[in-house]
Amino acid sequence: MKTAYVCQFCGHSTGRWVGRCIACDSWDTVVEEIVLKTETRSTSAPISIKALSDSEIITPDRFLTGIEELDRVFGGGIVQGASILIGGEPGIGKSTLLLRIAANVVQLSSFECLYVSGEESLEQVSLRAKRLKINEPKIKLLSTVSLTDVVATIRKNKSIKFLIIDSIQTMYDSKVTSAPGTVTQVRTCAHELTVLAKQYSVSLLIVGHITKDGQIAGPKTLEHMVDTVLYFEGENSNQYRILRTIKNRFGPANEIGVFEMSEAGLMPVDNPSSLFLTVHDREVVGSAVFAGVEGSRPILMEVQALIARTNMATPRRAVVGWDINRLAMIIAVLSARCKMFLHDKEVYLNIAGGLKIQEPSADLAVAASLISSLVNLPLPTSSIICGEVALSGEIRNVSHADLRLREAQKLGFKKAIMPKNGNYSSHDIEIIKLGHIKELKEIFNHN
Ligand SMILES: Nc1ncnc2c1ncn2[C@@H]1O[C@H](COP(=O)(O)OP(=O)(O)OP(=O)(O)O)[C@@H](O)[C@H]1O
Ligand SMILES: [Mg+2]
Ligand SMILES: [Zn+2]
Repeated sequence: MKTAYVCQFCGHSTGRWVGRCIACDSWDTVVEEIVLKTETRSTSAPISIKALSDSEIITPDRFLTGIEELDRVFGGGIVQGASILIGGEPGIGKSTLLLRIAANVVQLSSFECLYVSGEESLEQVSLRAKRLKINEPKIKLLSTVSLTDVVATIRKNKSIKFLIIDSIQTMYDSKVTSAPGTVTQVRTCAHELTVLAKQYSVSLLIVGHITKDGQIAGPKTLEHMVDTVLYFEGENSNQYRILRTIKNRFGPANEIGVFEMSEAGLMPVDNPSSLFLTVHDREVVGSAVFAGVEGSRPILMEVQALIARTNMATPRRAVVGWDINRLAMIIAVLSARCKMFLHDKEVYLNIAGGLKIQEPSADLAVAASLISSLVNLPLPTSSIICGEVALSGEIRNVSHADLRLREAQKLGFKKAIMPKNGNYSSHDIEIIKLGHIKELKEIFNHN
């Protein structure tokens, strides 16, 4: 029996134990594991090959979940034989989401779904189903951690075309002796499951746990193995959940679906823009409405800033929902280009509603909320803002400008503060064009 020493973080394998992984520099992540003898194919037998133009290679079918928020995230339905990985923090609602998907899929199709729970007993799963009012005979339950059981069940039941594994970290392949959740075990199980999915044209949905720093636990290769990677995110303290496409071989990435978690389960939110906006009776100092785009959908959200004096040598900068490094950049640009100094002030930045913004086009909204808080004046009444800020202070164009403007108009906004060089088709909304961040400062003076 051959053993190897495998890093549990990156999957790098060495012949002897080391305290620190030489590939990813992590400490104490290397564990002894037993290596499987891989099958080698005899080189003499050729296998048949097909031309790319061959009409016999059919495009795979898709099936719908019937929930628009979900189908968009999957890129227009779930592809038959595709493998999908869903990552999310403990207790965020992964099992709830999967049960909902399973129920909708079997209702709309002729096939059955196998729900494999390695974490919970059948009683626990059926208790949840009762609470969610899901009572589908076509959802079959299996409480096991054994991969062999799962493979045998799929081989035997040809009517099952949808397989859910909750979660990959609990699965155990007896061919590999290392414990469930180790790199080798996770990799082997995931590999066998994806092969099984392709072979039997079964769509596969795998739950993956998330580590403290927000990565899917196990080897990074897990994300390469599957066709689609989704993250289920949200704050445990509020009821909104976002399902985000990180990678998709069958559709666009970065799409999001918005859901609300309630006692009755997850409800899709059709009009998320209004959800993340706080309704104010009058203008508020330190607040800017950012017209964002997530995937193909526009979402308006409120950026809030608070600036307070401090005597501390290194004043606090706290951010919720945005990148702290980008905030540091905006603060530097404001000081270098606008002579607005924040070195003796604490800065708090918050994206209302628990959303995380990743777009650089939120720069201008952040700058505006900071300036507003600093000069103690609100932005023009009923305005939205977006634009990327360069280190020079220049304001760069944003993508999907018209999509953003349309959404703002739909929600009753009257003014839009936008980059100067953008092409905008005519809207019923007044566009205030800015070329440099200095001009943003002017807006407050003319309020
Ligand atoms: N009786 C209930 N009423 C309302 N909400 C509930 C109830 N029971 C559970 N929940 C909600 O469901 C969430 C747990 O959902 P779920 O078990 O689907 O999460 P999970 O991501 O699968 O968790 P784990 O990581 O433990 O597998 C809880 O955080 C809670 O918000
Ligand atoms: Mg769960
Ligand atoms: Zn490593």
